[in-house]
Amino acid sequence: MSIAANRRVLSGMRPTGQLHLGHYHGVLKNWIQLQHEYECFFFVADWHALTTSYDDTAIIGESVYDIVIDWLSVGINPGEATLFVQSRVPEHAELHLLLSMITPISWLERVPSYKDQQEKLRERDLSTYGFLGYPLLQAADILIYKAGHVPVGEDQVAHIELAREVARRFNHIYGREPDFEQKAEAAAKKMGRKNAKLYFEIRRTYQEGGDLEGLERGRALLEAQQNISLGDRERLLGYLEGGGKVILPEPQALLTPESKMPGLDGEKMSKSYQNTIALREAPESVTQKLRTMPTDPARVRRSDPGDPQKCPVWRFHEIYSDDGVRQWVREGCTTAGIGCLDCKQPIIDAVLAEQQPIRERSEEFLDDPDTVRAIIDEGCEAARDVARDTLDDVRQAMSLLYR
Ligand code: TRP
Ligand code: SF4
Repeated sequence: MSIAANRRVLSGMRPTGQLHLGHYHGVLKNWIQLQHEYECFFFVADWHALTTSYDDTAIIGESVYDIVIDWLSVGINPGEATLFVQSRVPEHAELHLLLSMITPISWLERVPSYKDQQEKLRERDLSTYGFLGYPLLQAADILIYKAGHVPVGEDQVAHIELAREVARRFNHIYGREPDFEQKAEAAAKKMGRKNAKLYFEIRRTYQEGGDLEGLERGRALLEAQQNISLGDRERLLGYLEGGGKVILPEPQALLTPESKMPGLDGEKMSKSYQNTIALREAPESVTQKLRTMPTDPARVRRSDPGDPQKCPVWRFHEIYSDDGVRQWVREGCTTAGIGCLDCKQPIIDAVLAEQQPIRERSEEFLDDPDTVRAIIDEGCEAARDVARDTLDDVRQAMSLLYR
């Protein structure tokens, strides 16, 4: 992994409708945390939405702004993280195209989501070129920012693995300049005699003994150098590791723990199950949904005792209630001491309380579309600057500078 990339995080979300509490408890809370610790790039993956929704594109355009407003409303801070829209950074498409030249079709065909999604979404024809290439587009999304870490769920880990393989192949093919070794040796000298000596020593022990701690020390040494160019740094890193120049560093998946947020039916909350509560759903609608959600089927009458373990409402108590309330539920449910509506009330209160500040902030943004637009414009520009720099490196490595 390249040194400059270590602290950079990138993640994307498809614009397919308003976000719901599952997104909040799964992905967004994690992003809010990450933005303080890393240099974060978060983007709306509108081209990705096209790979499966190419015949129903209206929802994509409608959701782009909604999603960004959702992000802002939960506390993603544009002062800390760069927020942008994929199609506004067309460099993603150019890198995707260039990477497609070196990516074997078999690598794409064996990504598990390719067959899985085709099975799952049988009503759509997904035997398209775009759908096959979608994980490669994702690889381009990541590599164009030289991101070191990519927060994703379990289902996306294979895509990050593909991005790693593609980066490795790219560096292998294009990272070997004809005079790579001389250039690397010359670059080492630019660090000064002492540092150069240390670098060669670390390199030798690492390459002879494979000692990973040494590799870390070598990376840290390079990171600390102020007066060498980015190109030289990439050379020295590649030379240290025993490969060519590292133009596209390999990213790592930062596994997001599976959201425990249940849906209204007790299954995982997901739009495709129609069991969601939107992040900024109207309070009346939230109340109504929770009041009518199913409970332990054994409690037909108020006087029938129930079992929280068999009740979707209990799953909400596991997220929203403290020990005292849970004890009250267990006791009251199993003895028929409380009714199901009584049991649901603390959940209704907790969900509404959680949503209130989010809803208030979203109203401010909805009332001020210019501000939202400005945040997106600024994010797109900042992202584009980084993407352009990477493409310069890529074109240079591929000898495409004649354009
Ligand atoms: N494929 C991701 C999803 O469907 C979204 C995505 C697109 C993404 N590009 C990305 C996530 C890059 C992380 C990094 O959820
Ligand atoms: Fe479910 Fe609560 Fe009713 Fe028991 S009392 S069945 S836990 S809603």
